[in-house]
Amino acid sequence: MCGIIGYTGSDPAVPILLDGLKKLEYRGYDSAGIAVQTADGLHMVKATGKVEKLAEKLEQATDMEGICGIGHTRWATHGSPSDVNAHPHMSADGRFAIVHNGIIENYLEIKTELEEKGIVFASETDTEVIVQLLAYYYEGDVRKSLMRTIRRLEGSYALAVLCADEPGTVFAARMSSPLIIGVGAGENFFASDITALIRHTKDVIDLDDGETAEIRTDSVRIFDPYGNPVSREPRHILWDIAAAEKGGYDHFMMKEIMEQPQALQATLEPRIKDGRIVLDSVDLDMKQFDRIMITACGSAYHAGCVGRLVLETLCRLPVETELASEFRYRDLVLNERTLVIVVSQSGETADTIAALRKAKEDGAATLAIVNVVGSTIAKIADHVIYTWAGPEIAVATTKGYVTQLAVLDLFAVWAADQLGRLDHKTYSQLVKGLKALPAKAQRALDLSARVGRLAKLYHDRKSLFFIGRNLDHAVAMEGSLKLKEISYLHSEAYAAGELKHGTIALIEPGRLVVALCCCERLYEKTASNIQQVKARGATVLAVAPESNHQIYGEADHVLRVPGVHPLFFPVVEIIPLQLLAYWVARENGCDIDKPKNLAKSVTVE
Ligand code: M6R
Repeated sequence: MCGIIGYTGSDPAVPILLDGLKKLEYRGYDSAGIAVQTADGLHMVKATGKVEKLAEKLEQATDMEGICGIGHTRWATHGSPSDVNAHPHMSADGRFAIVHNGIIENYLEIKTELEEKGIVFASETDTEVIVQLLAYYYEGDVRKSLMRTIRRLEGSYALAVLCADEPGTVFAARMSSPLIIGVGAGENFFASDITALIRHTKDVIDLDDGETAEIRTDSVRIFDPYGNPVSREPRHILWDIAAAEKGGYDHFMMKEIMEQPQALQATLEPRIKDGRIVLDSVDLDMKQFDRIMITACGSAYHAGCVGRLVLETLCRLPVETELASEFRYRDLVLNERTLVIVVSQSGETADTIAALRKAKEDGAATLAIVNVVGSTIAKIADHVIYTWAGPEIAVATTKGYVTQLAVLDLFAVWAADQLGRLDHKTYSQLVKGLKALPAKAQRALDLSARVGRLAKLYHDRKSLFFIGRNLDHAVAMEGSLKLKEISYLHSEAYAAGELKHGTIALIEPGRLVVALCCCERLYEKTASNIQQVKARGATVLAVAPESNHQIYGEADHVLRVPGVHPLFFPVVEIIPLQLLAYWVARENGCDIDKPKNLAKSVTVE
């Protein structure tokens, strides 16, 4: 949601900013804009719609030749997607231009106050109050004016500021919204995330909440909330530029599906040493907890639902899941004997951050499972286990989700061992099962062509059901979400045993039901649910382990996944469902990597 890019150096800023905005497109947006400093002040161009539209407008512009500038992709929150509401926003006197990610909660109060002083607002956005305040407080020192301005703001912001009086300098500030500074040679950058910078530099400095920065061609100065200088060395990013490119695939989503074996390997291998699970970043005594709570949004929540079942089976502790968007509105009983696990690919999901903060306020211990290093969630949580999925660009998560499963599985085995719940043989079998997952995932990917053919048969169905029990049900929820978000087909996930309590009324001839049958101990039960829907005319596509031959007598089509440890089936079972969503969306001509209305990282409530 919303993306920021900025540059100061000696090259023309517009091509660099445009390229950065293209890299940020995956975050989701509906308008875009760029502002540059030129010899005769600040100039900007903005466009509703895609970055290409902005590029067309920029080709016509004659006053955008600067070597320092800021750019933005906006996902509308306050005011419709329009040229005037798009960022950058300029102060009424033309001295300041800003781009902003986040939400200013008290903007109406500030707007009223400034309007009473005669300042005329151009847009309907919350952001414009920031730039008008900057100009209002300005007495020749931009940093002072910025500090005064941000003290007035309630809410979240990643902010970049150009001032006509400070050539070659960009000022930045951050509160609960990501902003990283890219350190180059004779040039510096900043952006919402590394994908926009990686072409230029792999050395980045994270800005922390409450900090401000002055970024010039040859220096980066950071200040704490009181204005004191902060010294911080850049960290080196290990991602390769190829990780942020499509690499010959038509879509990032397919590339990321295919990368899952490597992502699993990168996540699992360093944590399994001499047959033991080693979680260096986790300094927890599991015996201090009497309960575990997992919270997250969307697919990360679905990963949590799998994690709940694995954790309770292995640890014999009560484990609960709650959607992060509901977490803070419940009267949850949390205390120091509760371990709250938050799961997030981006580490920037607003609801998950709020849930994490609430858990900490209530005294719970917190563990984050996060993909993006240095993200807000990684910074706030007491303990972090990173998923090493690499950058995930497609809005629909795939490798992010399976690596979350891998970390939850690793953690469950580690925790159960700490609690003394596993004998030597069981522990070894589990570790062996984890180590096997990358190769098994690789084999599951062989299903792609077959799933592509099935998608040709079923892509025009209006509504589908995914059914399964226990772990299969948790995977069904993710399979259904994948299909919905990228193909726009209606689908629902049901615990197979629940069908007869109402939903079976919707089963009619031709209805496609995807039946997940990897939970072998419950196979007979799911098979009877398959018979019930078949009796009402449904077509059944089953996902089952290779060892299950009975399923051929029940389902119309069978996708066979390689056998794995019973607790780890979700890792391979989700793969055909990701492929199904992909191929159906492709058949239907959908914008697979950037589905409508969706953003990669949901940074608003
Ligand atoms: O970055 P996060 O893992 O916190 O994101 C949570 C959800 O927004 C995310 O999983 C979303 O549901 C995906 N689009 C699913 O593919």
